[in-house]
Amino acid sequence: MELNKVFAAILVAGIIGLGTAFVAELIVAPDQLETTAIFVDVEAEPVDAGGDEALPSVLPLLATADLALGESLASACVACHTFDQGGANGIGPNNWGVVGAAMGHIEGFGYSSALQERHDAGELWTYEALNHFLYRPREFLPGTSMSYAGLRNVEDRAALIAWLRTLAETPAPLPTEEEIAAATGSGDEAADEEPAEGESNADETAPAEDTPPAEESAPAEDSAPAEDSTPAEDSTPAEEGATDQ
Ligand code: HEC
Repeated sequence: MELNKVFAAILVAGIIGLGTAFVAELIVAPDQLETTAIFVDVEAEPVDAGGDEALPSVLPLLATADLALGESLASACVACHTFDQGGANGIGPNNWGVVGAAMGHIEGFGYSSALQERHDAGELWTYEALNHFLYRPREFLPGTSMSYAGLRNVEDRAALIAWLRTLAETPAPLPTEEEIAAATGSGDEAADEEPAEGESNADETAPAEDTPPAEESAPAEDSAPAEDSTPAEDSTPAEEGATDQ
């Protein structure tokens, strides 16, 4: 007897619940939006996966890079590398004359297969290859045996690469204006060279101009520092934002 009442109560409650939901639906009639109404444009930073595209070029910085700084930064490398001509290989190969050389430039050194493959493909240690490699060795060359986390600051990488360049009988030619323009964006961005250099003393202030500041501010996930600079750049964060969706 009591059981019947309990069932009845549950049944009635269920019916009321369904009915209410139905009526509520009629009244409110929610329209599902096709896209998210609030678009939070979190700029994809170099620290994250897609970083390479945003990595600032060292090309505009090389000519005026601080060689003494580069040499002092190389103290992070000497545990594994020698840099003198004919120097011995250590954990890593001797790096005399590596700028512009073939990847895997030391005959007989036991390179990782990752680096050996690049060697076999005829790839060279261009300035930009070194820029990417030294930024994040394991990202540029997955499987590399070089256990080195990387050098975050573009001016530091430029200084180190500029110093490496001097370690040769005939240093590789510096990049031409055209190469710099091509690396730093489209032609009308030739002015890029200027802000990039001017910014060299003001690491953390991140002027809202071109790509180098974007890297400088990398750790902070704050509001897009490079907002309204150029149309060319606006497209990049927008694309990245889109793919993040
Ligand atoms: C912990 C040891 C270690 C440190 C520190 C290290 N390297 Fe290396 N490096 C290696 C090894 C090992 C390789 C070979 C990588 C491979 O075969 O994948 C290598 C390869 C390289 C190459 C490619 C050489 C070639 O013949 O293709 C360059 C350039 C290089 N290192 C530069 C540097 C610089 C510049 C630093 C300092 C900022 C540095 N490395 C710090 C171990 C190290």
